Amino acid sequence: MSRIPLIAGNWKMYKTVPEAVETAEKLAALCQSIHSVEVMIAPNFLAIHPVAAVCKNSPVKIGAQNLYFEKQGAFTGEVSAGMIKAAGAEYVIIGHSERRQLFGESDSFVAKKIKSAIGCGLKPILCVGETEAQRDEEKTFQVPDKQVSDGLKGCGSDELKDLVLAYEPVWAIGTGKSATTDQVNTVHQYLRSLTAKLYSTTFADQVRILYGGSVKPENVSALMDLKDVDGALVGGASLEADTFINIIRFDT
Ligand code: PGA
Repeated sequence: MSRIPLIAGNWKMYKTVPEAVETAEKLAALCQSIHSVEVMIAPNFLAIHPVAAVCKNSPVKIGAQNLYFEKQGAFTGEVSAGMIKAAGAEYVIIGHSERRQLFGESDSFVAKKIKSAIGCGLKPILCVGETEAQRDEEKTFQVPDKQVSDGLKGCGSDELKDLVLAYEPVWAIGTGKSATTDQVNTVHQYLRSLTAKLYSTTFADQVRILYGGSVKPENVSALMDLKDVDGALVGGASLEADTFINIIRFDT
């Protein structure tokens, strides 16, 4: 089974709308000749619609960084999956470690978001990964195992056909200290067999598992060479089009 690589940029809480549009325009132009890799950028909510408009005739797809699981209602400050989809996004990042750590998101909350994303036709990118303390306690497999198992609870394999997993060890995010290829390899293999156990080998064969955590132009090729790495979720190095394109062109 060949899985099309996905290089996704998480712009976090950076860039005003004009700044996001400017970077997206540059990236869209640079990506015109990219066909063998799927490219996605996730700007803040405000910028999704204008960024989707400038990327419309380019290979660059749009994602959101979060959603709220209710369809609509009195939920001040929240944004629903349907609103995100209507604004032009195709993907949504769910359960990023910053949301888990800073905003107390639990696995059951994450599961509701996954359901809601799927229900609206958004492709969920479920982020999992251990903290440094959990790695020291030898919970490197146990933590992402629970995050995947509980985060996908109640979903059938047919509903999850567009699911993407992202292994992001928390200690590697924004630190400049990427996990080693050995560390990435073992966890990605573990997660792929977990999806086989939870669903089927066919499912495990097609689900894309991204690595995230200090991915840069200098380390992306070695990571992408690993059999079970199907792409990257990139934070800091996705903010400038000139840098991000060198990650997207990892095989040139
Ligand atoms: P980083 O962030 O590339 O800046 O480490 C990755 C992420 O948070 O998804």
